[in-house]
Amino acid sequence: MILLDGKKTSAEIKEEIAIEVAKLKEQGKKTPHLAAILVGNDGASRTYVNAKVKACEKVGFNSTLVRLEDTISEEELLSEINKLNTNNDIDGFIVQLPLPKHIDEQKVLMAVNPDKDVDGFHPTNVGKMTLNLPTFLPATPAGILELLERYNVETSGKNVVVIGRSHIVGSPMSILLSQKRTVGNATVTITHSRTKNLEAFTKEADIVVVALGVAEFLKGDMVKDGVVVIDVGITRVDDATKKNGFRLLGDVHFESVAPKASYITPVPGGVGPMTIAMLMKNTLLARERSEA
Ligand code: GUN
Repeated sequence: MILLDGKKTSAEIKEEIAIEVAKLKEQGKKTPHLAAILVGNDGASRTYVNAKVKACEKVGFNSTLVRLEDTISEEELLSEINKLNTNNDIDGFIVQLPLPKHIDEQKVLMAVNPDKDVDGFHPTNVGKMTLNLPTFLPATPAGILELLERYNVETSGKNVVVIGRSHIVGSPMSILLSQKRTVGNATVTITHSRTKNLEAFTKEADIVVVALGVAEFLKGDMVKDGVVVIDVGITRVDDATKKNGFRLLGDVHFESVAPKASYITPVPGGVGPMTIAMLMKNTLLARERSEA
């Protein structure tokens, strides 16, 4: 069993980006600048956004964090987005999800200028991704592709089962892995809460991507020997023995699945850090594109 080490791989990617940023600065070019909008006080979202800001520092980007109360109106949020759209110093920005219930998420994502949409969530960019045209790929699926590529995991002709159909992970992951691309050409089945006899699919899978948000959902008896397992889940469970009061669980029951796996991502330290590295990559791309 080989661990797909997202922590180490993301550090390598950030190092590569830092070199590019240093070159830009040497040439007297503008420093890439990422902004993030965080609405409300959700602990997990705060942690993710802080990690994104920290990654910007690491690679030499400028960053701006826009913190807004969870009582903000949709109109006010749209106005904040417009400020970032029109601010020429900002190369790319993200609106951290989820948003409070009174705000229409789709309306917000559609307000982001597609050229600054480094999350790749705008319908224009989702459409380009689906057509395999150059665009910002959503960071989590892109991070998974990158991890598979750097570990030379073969995907061509393999049976992939994606569990979960979210717009952020499951849906784009299934599209990307079926495309004609370096990491792709797979036969993909997308499964979800209405799938009957899910195990029948996972037991036949060469690669399983689990993005369901149910802690330890995938068990050892649901997969075959030699399976490649990508765990996108990250659930906080109370743990009084930990300093912060919680520990993180993936969507995979690691103890029973890992002994059967040829490759597996750990949680934490698997997909999570890769997501952040790919957001940095998209921000660098946004900067380079606006230069062109
Ligand atoms: N919430 C969970 N994942 C993501 C992500 O990739 N981007 C944003 N903006 N919010 C998220």
